[in-house]
Formats: sequence, C-alpha cells, structure tokens
Amino acid sequence: MNILITGGAGFIGSNFIFHMRKKYPDYNLICVDLLTYAGNLSTLASVLDKPGFKFYKADIADRQAVYDIFEKEKPDIVVNFAAESHVDRSIEEPEVFLRTNIIGTEVLMDASKKYGVKRYHQVSTDEVYGDLPLDRKDLFFTESTPLHTSSPYSSSKAGADLMVQAYHRTYGLNVTISRCSNNYGPYHFPEKLIPLTIVNALHDKPLPVYGEGINVRDWLYVEDHCKAIDLIIHKGEAGEVYNVGGHNEMRNIDIVKLICKHLGKPESLIQFVTDRKGHDMRYAIDPTKIHNALGWLPETKFEDGIKKTIDWYLNNKQWWEEIIKGEYRNYYDKMYTNR
Ligand code: NAD
Ligand code: TYD
Repeated sequence: MNILITGGAGFIGSNFIFHMRKKYPDYNLICVDLLTYAGNLSTLASVLDKPGFKFYKADIADRQAVYDIFEKEKPDIVVNFAAESHVDRSIEEPEVFLRTNIIGTEVLMDASKKYGVKRYHQVSTDEVYGDLPLDRKDLFFTESTPLHTSSPYSSSKAGADLMVQAYHRTYGLNVTISRCSNNYGPYHFPEKLIPLTIVNALHDKPLPVYGEGINVRDWLYVEDHCKAIDLIIHKGEAGEVYNVGGHNEMRNIDIVKLICKHLGKPESLIQFVTDRKGHDMRYAIDPTKIHNALGWLPETKFEDGIKKTIDWYLNNKQWWEEIIKGEYRNYYDKMYTNR
C-alpha cells in the first residue's frame, strides 16, 4: 500500500506519519511538503532515511511537480493535510490561503483522477461551519450543518471541501472528508494558542489572550485525530463527510490559566489584548456519525493530553527554540507588539 501524505512536515501530518509507521510497518509512506514557515524537516528526522518512507519538497499547487511525484510513486491513497492553517495569518494575507488550500486541493484531485488513486482524503476543519453562540450549549455542528465561514482561512477550507464534493459527484472520484475540531499535542507550531502559551510562559513573557478570553474551542489530542483519519481512509464510505471531535469544550482563558498552573507560573502573566477580527465564539462537534459508522471515540482525556503536551515542550526545547529564534520573531512582533 502506497500512501501519499501532504503537509507531513507540519503538526498533524507528522503525527499521522508516526501513527501510520507504527501501526502499518509494511506501508510505503510518501510525504510531500513545501516546507513553508510551518513545515519542519527536523520533525521527520526519525523517519527520513528509513525504508518505506520518502520525502519530496514540493508545492501541492505546482501541477507538474505533483504529477511527476504521482507518476513515480503511484499512490493508492492520498491524505491531504497540506494547508495554510493559521486564522490570524489569513486575516493579514489571504491570497496564499486560496492558492494552497483551494488550488492545491484541486491539483491533488486532478492527479488522483489521472493516476487512478483509490481514495482521496481531505483533512478539513470544523471551522467551515462558522461558529455557535455561547448561550446555546444545546447546539453542535453535525455533518449537515450548513457551511457558513468567518475567516479567509475557514472560507478557503470550505472552498476546498466544496471542490472535493464536486469531484466526487462530477468525476466519481473516491473521496472522503474529515472535519475536526482544534487539535493539540507534540510538534504544534508556536503561533497557535496552546504552544504559544507554553513557550511564552517558559520565558516569563506576557500571555496574550484575545478579547475577554471567553471564546470556546473543542480540543482533541492529535493522536485521536490521526486514529480517526486512519479509520476513515480504510473504512469510510466514498463521498462522506465525518465530523471528528471530543466533546471537550473549553474557554481560552481557562486553557491559559491551566497551563500557568501546570508550569507553576503566575496568572499575572496573562495580558488581555485586542480581539481577533471576526473572532468565532464557539466550536462544538457532534461526533455521533463517526462513532456509529466507524466505532471511533476519543481516547485521551484533556487532563492527560495537556500534561503530555506540556511535558513534550519541556523535553523538546531544541525543536521550538530553533523556530522562535528565526522568522517567527518578525511574525510575533508584527502581531503582538502594542496590540
Ligand atoms: P500546519 O500549519 O502545522 O502544517 C501545514 C503543513 O503544510 C506544513 O508542513 C507546511 O509546510 C505544509 N504546506 C503548506 N503549504 C504547502 C504547499 N503549498 N504545498 C505543500 N505543503 C505545504 O497545519 P496543521 O495544524 O498540521 O493542519 C493540518 C491540516 O489539518 C490542515 O489542512 C488544517 O486545515 C487541518 N486542521 C487543523 C486543525 C488544528 O487544530 N491544527 C484542526 C482541524 C483541521
Ligand atoms: P488558534 O490556536 O489560533 O486556533 P483557531 O483560531 O483555529 O481556533 O486559537 C485558539 C483560540 O485562542 C482562538 O479563540 C483565538 C485564541 N488566541 C488567543 O487568545 N491568543 C493567542 O495568542 C492566539 C494565537 C489565539
């Protein structure tokens, strides 16, 4: 079995590669990643020169490069993680989100069609459903919730999802889509809330919380997401969408306070800053379909997952120190200085 994984040098893609190598040692895994600011080859160091693993540095929106790789590697399954993934960056510079997230998806599906791929899986997000009000705890996103996006990021992901559904209906491409809630765990790029808070707290730097910190996200340990995708690519039904989430809703401010507590840092580090434009209030997934159809359930409780994650950042300082001393500094200054 040849599985082509795009975006495998990023957060979730790399965790998926580790999961698949462990569970299916006979599979050939082919990783395609452009190594943007979010991609790190050092993350893949433990597998890079191992048999059954290949790495290509390429842009998924570069048609010729993608066709050449498909021609050579003949993938049976494609799992597309590659994306521009940060909402705040999408607010600053939307264009690259359209190119990678929409055009890149289209190119990958054209290649899948041309080279007879048996299953194309699109890794999407719950953000395509927009947000839910804080005072309606009874509401959750189901697979039939209408797409109603807020940010250039979520809009580009929704655009890609619609193209994936079009390729199924129009060309009969065998596709599946997963829409997952917020992930956390090892190798999470420190522009996102949880790793940013851990890294800043370790340096006794201010912990920026947007607005009042009352926005709610539904956090899932990354390994649980990888297991869901593993099930979907093997057993999911063509043309279907599967929501993935763990009924683990938390307010941002409570996450930041919890990290302070674990690290023994004072809450006085917390700094409320100007809110994100168009900030979604609440995400909450109803995972009934994937549970009933494929038997998936989240396995890692938040209190265990967050402890494992914090320990990982404590034990892998070199990984994130390399990142924060590079281009990241300019990004951080631009986004947070005098905010
Ligand atoms: P990430 O930003 O950590 O990684 C993205 C990876 O894609 C990087 O390695 C980057 O180099 C690569 N990439 C970017 N543009 C590329 C291009 N044009 N060609 C080839 N590679 C390119 O992202 P992540 O958090 O791991 O998210 C992975 C996927 O999961 C994304 O599609 C995202 O929308 C989705 N998702 C993320 C979350 C989350 O909480 N992080 C939740 C639900 C869904
Ligand atoms: P983020 O990790 O960027 O994920 P997403 O926007 O895709 O949900 O942000 C999670 C939540 O944390 C979101 O409500 C925005 C908020 N946030 C802060 O309060 N401060 C920060 O510095 C960051 C990066 C995010």
